Amino acid sequence: MALLEIEGLTKQFGGLLALGGVDFHIEEGEIVSVIGPNGAGKTTFFNTISGMFPPDEGEILFDGRDVAGLTPDQITKRGIARTFQNVRLFPNMTVLENIMVAQHSRTHKGVFSALFQTPGFRKEEQEIRDRARDVLGFFGTRLIGYRFDQPAFMLSYANRRRLEIARAMGTQPRLLLLDEPTAGMNPRETAELTGLIRKLRDERGFTIVVIEHEMKVVRDVSDRVVVLDHGVQIAEGSYDEVSTNEDVIEAYLGRPAESH
Ligand SMILES: Nc1ncnc2c1ncn2[C@@H]1O[C@H](COP(=O)(O)OP(=O)(O)O)[C@@H](O)[C@H]1O
Ligand SMILES: [Mg+2]
Repeated sequence: MALLEIEGLTKQFGGLLALGGVDFHIEEGEIVSVIGPNGAGKTTFFNTISGMFPPDEGEILFDGRDVAGLTPDQITKRGIARTFQNVRLFPNMTVLENIMVAQHSRTHKGVFSALFQTPGFRKEEQEIRDRARDVLGFFGTRLIGYRFDQPAFMLSYANRRRLEIARAMGTQPRLLLLDEPTAGMNPRETAELTGLIRKLRDERGFTIVVIEHEMKVVRDVSDRVVVLDHGVQIAEGSYDEVSTNEDVIEAYLGRPAESH
């Protein structure tokens, strides 16, 4: 059984059909890229899966259970985490706090134990802190040491993007949805992150769907590539298959002018 199995996913904004019945599946341990021209519906695809808004129609089975229409918090608890195309961090919180606060949607101790600092609460806080340090350590030296206590707004752009991924990792998901993780990064940063995306799967065991516009990244990380255009899937296959597919080339370059 696929870890995520989607059927007939549909989302309309006014008169605009952003998703027109998308079928999709990903197996545990796979890395699947979702590509397509601007406005193809890629981010909307993630938004409906992650509970930002409910789909109009369609089934989203995660680990065999329908999660369509659940809230973002409930989706996180089920084991799906996502990053945003435009970084969304708490700028005034420290690096460590940004990860810790994200984990709270998964923790169990209530207000009572927090207020009275019960042993159970303190133990859980310590676990959360340790996990935050661990996921930040995944990025080498970039987000550790004195950076733990720096407010997020002081980080470089690339570090803020890394922190965004770390925050998703901190919620201990099985499925990671990464929305254009290399956007705005320079070639060296992009190459580094490409390696890390593979390591997220190989070393950390995440199943990954990644929206990516940088074709070199798509080539290097993908087990399989899905192409969306105008809210529908126009191709699916290996990188080599989709990159030579005529419908895909046409979607990116525009239909050649008909000769009359
Ligand atoms: N919240 C929204 N309200 C209205 N229209 C939206 C909203 N989100 C996306 N759209 C529209 O849906 C289409 C798909 O957008 P999006 O999913 O962001 O595309 P992509 O990520 O592939 O560039 C676009 O035409 C966009 O303008
Ligand atoms: Mg997008």
